[in-house]
Amino acid sequence: MDSSPTGMEQGNLSQQISELDHRLHVAIIMDGNGRWAKKRGLPRIAGHRAGAHAVRRVTDAARELGIGTLTVFAFSSDNWQRPVMEVSALMRLFHRYLRWEMGRCLKDGVRLSVIGRRDRLPQWLVKEIEHSEEVTRHEKRLHLRVALDYSSRDSIVEAARQAQRRMTSTSNSNSDADGAFELDRQSFQSLLSALNRDQVKDVDLLIRTSGELRLSDFMLWECAYAELYFTPVLWPDFKKEHLAEALDEYSRRDRRYGAVKETALAAAETQAAEPAGVVGD
Ligand code: FPP
Repeated sequence: MDSSPTGMEQGNLSQQISELDHRLHVAIIMDGNGRWAKKRGLPRIAGHRAGAHAVRRVTDAARELGIGTLTVFAFSSDNWQRPVMEVSALMRLFHRYLRWEMGRCLKDGVRLSVIGRRDRLPQWLVKEIEHSEEVTRHEKRLHLRVALDYSSRDSIVEAARQAQRRMTSTSNSNSDADGAFELDRQSFQSLLSALNRDQVKDVDLLIRTSGELRLSDFMLWECAYAELYFTPVLWPDFKKEHLAEALDEYSRRDRRYGAVKETALAAAETQAAEPAGVVGD
C-alpha cells in the first residue's frame, strides 16, 4: 500500500497539524496518587479520585497557558497487575470522568481522545470513549489525550509488525499500482500514529510527578527529543502554578536536537513542517 497521503488525506492532515503543531505538546506521567492517599490514611482509590480532579484542573490550566496537546498517562498496560478491586475502580472512574467532562470539553473547546489498546477495556468504557471522541472531534483549543492500557514498547512492536506485513505484501505483489512500502522514520512514525488513531507532533515537554525519575514505557519514540521535567509534587496536588513552573523551566532549556544552536532552530522548524504522512489501510 502507498505510504504517501492522498490529496484529501494530506489536506485534512496538514490542516490538523498546522492548527496544533506550533503550540506545545506536553505529556504527563501522573504519579503519586497512592502515596497522597496513604499520607491521609485514605484508600488508594481516594487518591485516584483526587487525581481525576487534578486532571480537570490541569486541563483548564493547559488551555489557559496555550498548550496545544496534553497527553496524560492514566493506565499503563502493566497496571493490569494491580489488585482487581483497584483496576475495576479505576475503570469506573475513567468512565465517570468521560461522562462528567464531555460538557466542559465542548464548552471550553477541548478535543478529547484516548490512546492505547481498547480490546481489553470493558465494553461500556469503550462505548463512552468512542462517544466522547465523536462529540468533541472538532474542538480546537486543546487536544487532551488520555493514555489507557498504553505501552510504548507494545505500540512499537505492533507498528514493526505492520511494517513487516506491508513490506511482504508489496514485495509479493507484481503490480506497482499501490507503490512499494518503504520503511523509514517517517513511514514508521505514521504507522505508530495510526495505532493511536491520530497524528500529533512529538512531545516537547515530559513531566513526571512524585519524585520518580523514570519513563515507565511512556511514548518512548515520541519523547526522543522531549525535555524532561521531574517534580516531587504528588499528582493530586499538582496545580496550574506547577505546570507554569515546568513551562518556565522548559523555556530556559536550549533545545539543539543534536545540532549546534543555529541549525537546531531550522531542524525544529523542519520537524514541525513535515508531519508524518498518512499510511492507508
Ligand atoms: C499512578 O499513581 C497513577 C495511576 C496508575 C492512575 C492514574 C489515574 C489518575 C490520575 C486518575 C484518573 C485519571 C483520569 C484521566 C480520569 P500510583 O497509584 O502508582 O501512586 P503511588 O506510586 O503513590 O502508589
